[in-house]
Amino acid sequence: MILSHLRLHQFKNHENSSFDFCDKINSISGPNGSGKTNILDAIYTLSNTKSYFNHIDQQLIQFGKDEYSLKGMFRANESDSNLDFQVLLTLQNKKKSLKKNGKPYSRLLEHIGTIQTVFITPYDISLVFEGSEERRKFIDFTISQINKNYLFALVEYRKYLDQRNAFLKSNFGRNIDSLILESFDVKISPIADEIHKARKAFIDEFIPLFEENYKFISESSEVPHIDYLSPLNNKSMLSVLEENRTSDLLSQRTGLGIHKDDIEFLLNNQPLKKFGSQGQIKSFVIALKIAQYQYFKQNSQQYPILLLDDIFEKIDSQRSQKLMERMCSTEFGQIFISDTHSERIIEHFNPFDVAQKHFTLVK
Ligand SMILES: Nc1ncnc2c1ncn2[C@@H]1O[C@H](COP(=O)(O)OP(=O)(O)OP(=O)(O)O)[C@@H](O)[C@H]1O
Ligand SMILES: [Mg+2]
Repeated sequence: MILSHLRLHQFKNHENSSFDFCDKINSISGPNGSGKTNILDAIYTLSNTKSYFNHIDQQLIQFGKDEYSLKGMFRANESDSNLDFQVLLTLQNKKKSLKKNGKPYSRLLEHIGTIQTVFITPYDISLVFEGSEERRKFIDFTISQINKNYLFALVEYRKYLDQRNAFLKSNFGRNIDSLILESFDVKISPIADEIHKARKAFIDEFIPLFEENYKFISESSEVPHIDYLSPLNNKSMLSVLEENRTSDLLSQRTGLGIHKDDIEFLLNNQPLKKFGSQGQIKSFVIALKIAQYQYFKQNSQQYPILLLDDIFEKIDSQRSQKLMERMCSTEFGQIFISDTHSERIIEHFNPFDVAQKHFTLVK
């Protein structure tokens, strides 16, 4: 996928900005606060209908204004301009709408998976340090880009889980009609089993990609590992719900299920969060993201868009040079990269004979 043109209107600090991008390396430099990350986030937002950083849509509107819009021209296939399409995302009167080639989507969800983006940002360490929700989001986001049914299954699961929890809450202390509770369980369980199966298949495909990337980035012999933790690894959801019925009735919510799944990050069999050094954690997280890129690529037969925010701050210059060399190869497609120093970017890419365009923002 190639983004050839982008226009931002009243999106965060960009009142009116337009860019014509090249097919390979696009760098954006400028001082702190000039809006580099906001451009990368605009690309992410057009692809996913949500900002990577801020899920409150209203806060994406430039201060003092009352609407924003983002427009992108995309090329799905490098050799066939008939497949070009335009995406227009607007937030007006508190209503978000999305059009592809002028035609509005009835549900924003339908757009997911059309444009795959991988965003590597300094905030990614939250995958390691935050609770399991962050890691589930990572898995769910990655699978949903490739498998629409998975995304719909997640929405269904959430709906039935909310209903079950509401039922448990409203009947607390009463003699609960177990037939009603069972009717929820029977609805939820097959969806949960399907989600678990998809997560398991995803992890199995993802692990070798990730491990190889970690080795490349860290240049070390440490052994990284990812483990999928789920009560459904050896039981069906129906039996999990049955076994936990008493405790669910007491706590008035569904305590166990795929909504509590997690992935564990290990390095040499030790938890990364506790024992990993800063450099090891950064390498781990970049390896996760590059594996995500490869997973998209091998399942969609398309190059995803790669967004690299402040990557040179994350790894030392020898490693970043090696990584950039790889990114200039045909293994990767179009790349957007931000840095405060334009010289540093140009220096990194100068040695390579690839299309590159450098943009400098002023504050
Ligand atoms: N809704 C908004 N309206 C106007 N400005 C906003 C809005 N949201 C964020 N900003 C501004 O955008 C600027 C940050 O932009 P951004 O994060 O893209 O900067 P950057 O160039 O990436 O900086 P750094 O080099 O520090 O990473 C901040 O000055 C912030 O105040
Ligand atoms: Mg930034």
